[in-house]
Amino acid sequence: MKVLLLGSGGREHALAWKIAQSAKVEKLFIAPGNAGTQNVGENVDIKADDFEALKNFVVENGVDMVIVGPEDPLVKGVYDDFKNDERTKNVPVIGPSKAGAVLEGSKDFAKQFMKRHNIPTAKYETFDGTTVEEGLKFLETLKAPYVLKADGLCAGKGVLILPTLEEAKKEFKEMLGGMFGNASARVVIEEFLSGIECSVFALTDGKNYKILPEAKDYKRIGEHDTGLNTGGMGSVSPVPFATKEWMQKVEDRIIRPTVEGLAEENIEYKGFIFFGLINVEGEPMVIEYNCRMGDPETETVMLRLKSDIVDLFEGVAEGNLDKRDIEFDERAAVCVMLVSGGYPQAYAKGYEITGLDKVEDSVVFHAGTKMQNGKVVTNGGRVIAVSSYGEDKSEALQNSFTQAQKIEFTDKYFRRDIGQDL
Ligand code: AMP
Ligand code: GLY
Repeated sequence: MKVLLLGSGGREHALAWKIAQSAKVEKLFIAPGNAGTQNVGENVDIKADDFEALKNFVVENGVDMVIVGPEDPLVKGVYDDFKNDERTKNVPVIGPSKAGAVLEGSKDFAKQFMKRHNIPTAKYETFDGTTVEEGLKFLETLKAPYVLKADGLCAGKGVLILPTLEEAKKEFKEMLGGMFGNASARVVIEEFLSGIECSVFALTDGKNYKILPEAKDYKRIGEHDTGLNTGGMGSVSPVPFATKEWMQKVEDRIIRPTVEGLAEENIEYKGFIFFGLINVEGEPMVIEYNCRMGDPETETVMLRLKSDIVDLFEGVAEGNLDKRDIEFDERAAVCVMLVSGGYPQAYAKGYEITGLDKVEDSVVFHAGTKMQNGKVVTNGGRVIAVSSYGEDKSEALQNSFTQAQKIEFTDKYFRRDIGQDL
């Protein structure tokens, strides 16, 4: 079959790498892809949210399945757009409908959904420009630190955690005043939860689901979790505290109620659900939902998925995911992200990347790269994900750090403490 994958980051290179291994795939296209995805498929110069151009491409090239990497096209309704077009209505799109993507697109919706289905999450209330006073009063009932969340999508920047009530009140008013534009026209204020975070992923056909290997990501730019938030500096799988017992709680209290809740509410959902969890004294609670896989978690999860991912996608499309097998690699997998100096603030692009051909024993996923005059150059803040296996986490990390030294570009930076807190 012919498969089209949407997106251009490290997550998409990892998905493309896995999809390309499937015996069922005769041709893989990636739109728009990056300098790495062209090694496992054919890049197509169409933006992931240009639905008209994507549909034309699918029709003209006889594409049999579309897989969506990032949230943006999902929140904009790519699933529905394909379904409502006579020409593409029979081409399965792996990803939720626009209504399902609201789990990520609106924090308020996600919180209400969890409340309706008794899914454990932090206590919260939502406010807008007409309820500023009520919001300030609600803040007074909480203990420090204070968690403020813009309701809408803010490219991972919409959550503020403030140490004092005074700062929380000030930022709350600024958020409602347009700090994140329309995305913060409504603000969720929630109770602070203390614990270690863990990302859990399920693939669902709307009725059945399969749970993928869990992973932990490292969000801050500085070692020992200091400095600004980033898109993710590395990841580790498995996560030691995610024991069989803990994962059973996650399935019983969070995953199954979510999938059943979506079905009960007639929300079409055929794709990945990302559960951003926190372990509060042994009990899993939901911090957030995403309607896609995580990045850079995918760069470790794909290494640990042994089964044919396209067979699983067919199960999603056909509604018989329960009939498909899923097997994991028992080894550990880690990913270390090489980023541009200056990231997550201003940084330069266009530096040549060398040494990629010297890498052994690791899988190199490109995150922000492109081809320029026949050379691979930096084209984003997060540039290269160096993913490795090991008998345990330490061995895997050793591999990634060794290989990371061989890849060179101006002002390269990476965290050397990935996985050390576990
Ligand atoms: P989110 O975009 O919802 O994932 O939030 C970004 C980050 O803020 C999370 O990964 C957590 O580290 C932190 N965070 C969000 N909500 C809470 C909460 N209720 N308690 C503690 N930390 C939180
Ligand atoms: N790694 C977190 C995310 O993909 O949102």
